[in-house]
Amino acid sequence: MTEAYNLILSYRKNLETKLDPMRYEHSLSVSFTCMSLAMRFGCDLEQAELAGLLHDCGKRYSDDIILKKCKKHGILVTPEEEEAPAVLHANYGAWLAKHKYGIRDPEILSAILYHTTGKPDMTLLEKIVYIADYIEPRRNKAENLPRMRSLAYEDLDETMYEILKGTIEYLDRKSGSIDPITLKAFEYYQELHQKNVLKLPKN
Ligand SMILES: [Fe+2]
Ligand SMILES: [Fe+2]
Repeated sequence: MTEAYNLILSYRKNLETKLDPMRYEHSLSVSFTCMSLAMRFGCDLEQAELAGLLHDCGKRYSDDIILKKCKKHGILVTPEEEEAPAVLHANYGAWLAKHKYGIRDPEILSAILYHTTGKPDMTLLEKIVYIADYIEPRRNKAENLPRMRSLAYEDLDETMYEILKGTIEYLDRKSGSIDPITLKAFEYYQELHQKNVLKLPKN
């Protein structure tokens, strides 16, 4: 077995004791989906596997405890995040990945950090983790899943646009607050989408 695989196995063992069973299963499923997308789009497989496996490592406590942990460790929390703390497990997760799991790769840490909000102009790995989190096979709630699962293997930027659009519409309906970085991410991918539409041949 390679050193990298041994590391993955030790992380899996650890996460199984820290996360609830459904969250652990989801983490495995995201990890495998990340590798599948990485094969499709030419991303590093080890980075994809690790980032997917660890993306929810911060989701081991309730939101209020995660907020306290962020403050204790000096992790930056914006007023918007404090108001809608469900996104904070990503900030705390990136901190845990670095300080408890020894991840030094800034690309993996960034993919964990932005997996809930997205951001404008994401890297290939960031998009893969964000999208894998949405489409992994154990998910079953979102109505548009079949289409997103198919679109993801065609065009990651279009998939980002569609998922962000759906997320913003959902939060609007629920009158939930939308993180400003999610809005910026949506505007960025909407612009790419509109440019692509203009490029399509007209019949
Ligand atoms: Fe998450
Ligand atoms: Fe997740």
